[in-house]
Amino acid sequence: MIKFICTESEQQAGIRAAEIMAEVIKTRPNALIGLATGSTPLNMYAELVRKCSIGEISFKDVTTVNLDEYVGLTPDHEQSYYWFMWKNLFSHIDIEPENTHLPTGASPDPEKECINYDRLLDRLGSVDIQLLGIGHNGHIAFNEPDSHFPKDTTLVKLSDSTIEANSRFFDSKADVPSQAISMGIGRILRAKSILLLATGQGKADILEKALFGKITPTVPASILQFYQGELTVVTDKSAFSTIKEKHPRVNPE
Ligand code: F6R
Repeated sequence: MIKFICTESEQQAGIRAAEIMAEVIKTRPNALIGLATGSTPLNMYAELVRKCSIGEISFKDVTTVNLDEYVGLTPDHEQSYYWFMWKNLFSHIDIEPENTHLPTGASPDPEKECINYDRLLDRLGSVDIQLLGIGHNGHIAFNEPDSHFPKDTTLVKLSDSTIEANSRFFDSKADVPSQAISMGIGRILRAKSILLLATGQGKADILEKALFGKITPTVPASILQFYQGELTVVTDKSAFSTIKEKHPRVNPE
């Protein structure tokens, strides 16, 4: 069963998501946490930083593992996900750098890096809570619409719509890397719990399609309907609007 939490604003959605993360960390101080990048989790990260700064939570014994990284970007590239994580979260909290993990996008052999990342995931064990965003095309991590659901970490060719969507962070569309290393969907579904965060009107239709439509690899997030763990979907009013309209019986918290 999916638990829906619909908040008044994007900021409130971030705060609520941070509360859920914080609960996991308080219950399990050495939790393994799966993280995502993008615009959506920024408020959540800001709130986690705040909670850590006032001593409500500590990341001292927490380990993190990120979903994805662009191929070809070095950690010091401002659009790399490594840079994003340090800028928005890691450098402001008490986490041990060696406990943070992202795929190495600048690896000379990205295929091998995928295998290495899966080995790391095997070593780390089950993720306690995996944060996910959703792409406008229904992708989760960088698992793009396809003919199958990738199980393991793979080298992904980014779809044109994803390159277009992410070009807002780069000087031009041509600067957006065409490939990424992405945790596979099979790996994502191994998490004990999943927190899907979606905000803004632009996510309303795809969120409804993913969670109530046909389960198909052309909408990668639709596989979440088969997820056996605890799935919490946190939204603002705008992102929840299509679900509200088409499924009036869904009663969010
Ligand atoms: C990023 C990731 C992506 C994003 C998705 C939404 O690590 O895994 O799947 O979650 O592209 O991005 P935003 O939040 O920018 O709309």
